[in-house]
Amino acid sequence: MIIDFLDAVLGESTYELWDKAVASAKGVYSNAQMKKAAVHAAERIREGGLVVFPTETVYGLGADAFNASAVARVYSEKGRPGDNPLILHITNTEQFEELANNPPPYAYELIKAYWPGPLTLVANKKFTLPAWVGGHPDKSTSTVGIRMPAHPVAMAFLKEAGIVAAPSANKSGKPSPTALSHVLEDFPKIESESSDITALDGGSATIGLESTVIDITGDHPKILRHGTITAERISLVTKLPTHDTPKNVAVPQAPGMKYKHYAPRAEMTLISGNAIDVAAYISKCAEESDHRVGILLQEKTRGCFPYPPSNAEILVLGGDDKAMARNLFACLRKFDQMGVGKIYAEAVNESGIGVAIMDRMRKAAEGRVIDV
Ligand code: TXA
Ligand code: MG
Repeated sequence: MIIDFLDAVLGESTYELWDKAVASAKGVYSNAQMKKAAVHAAERIREGGLVVFPTETVYGLGADAFNASAVARVYSEKGRPGDNPLILHITNTEQFEELANNPPPYAYELIKAYWPGPLTLVANKKFTLPAWVGGHPDKSTSTVGIRMPAHPVAMAFLKEAGIVAAPSANKSGKPSPTALSHVLEDFPKIESESSDITALDGGSATIGLESTVIDITGDHPKILRHGTITAERISLVTKLPTHDTPKNVAVPQAPGMKYKHYAPRAEMTLISGNAIDVAAYISKCAEESDHRVGILLQEKTRGCFPYPPSNAEILVLGGDDKAMARNLFACLRKFDQMGVGKIYAEAVNESGIGVAIMDRMRKAAEGRVIDV
């Protein structure tokens, strides 16, 4: 309990995050190759093209934030509804100030503690900016979501390209991509010689869940989307209560939260309870099913399945919160590849990062949770 609490409050430092992302990127590029790829990708952005780039959370599909036709294309490539705004990706606080109008002092505490890192700040927008910037070119927005990613490839690219508007690089409704191979599953044309979308590789995402999104337009920070920067960690540095998004809200807080999300093709159900009961329940469901069944378990529960039903494919989500966050989207995509007809997934304890993991799992399961 105390360890869980400390982990929720302290989490990983910016340095730890950065080092992990550097290790992941080193498996792909030397420093010289990374610089060359970043310069090339930035040229494509300046020409109005789109670029897939890695971050520590998930891969993004980016366009020049001020080029209306390039931004419109991001929406059409993804199949993204126009009322769902995009995050503006930056590399320094001067850019934050070009975008945000009169941010509150607590915003700077958050920036000092957690940027670069998996935290998006939704601020009032500078009046001098075009009305649509931060959203779809046909709409106007009064706020902008801003984030500084902790990934060397993203940093190298954004330093050359300037402010880049980017959603996660998945087709709308699919699990977010935590590896370039996931992006290519959703956008196979990127691999063709004639593709005008450039892709940067950064290895596997080291966090694996999208950034925490916080509204900073009020007196207190308000969570719009949970992530690995938890409510506890936000209150710790702002010394303010953090307003939370109630679970299963009828009115979505961030526009993006109202859409079907993260969904694998098979119908998914979450099973919540102690390991033995969960294992027994899932076994029974699998045995009674005419489908091939995907089973997603925590490491501790895997041992309760010495003889899995013959129609079952078991994947292990992880042995701790960070591993579970990192693996979730990849597991959902793996079940799609395996062609399972139903998925039973063990629910995760909702404390610390577990809040964000369960938020994504609930959405993938479209709210189906069975307590055993
Ligand atoms: O980790 C991440 O945040 C990744 C990487 C690529 O940076 N990006 C990402 O983008 O997850 P996307 O578009 O898939 O999710 C952005 C979320 C959506 O729920 C959107 O509604 C919300 O942020 N958002 C963006 N701008 C906003 C704004 N001005 N007001 C309210 N919500 C906003
Ligand atoms: Mg997304």
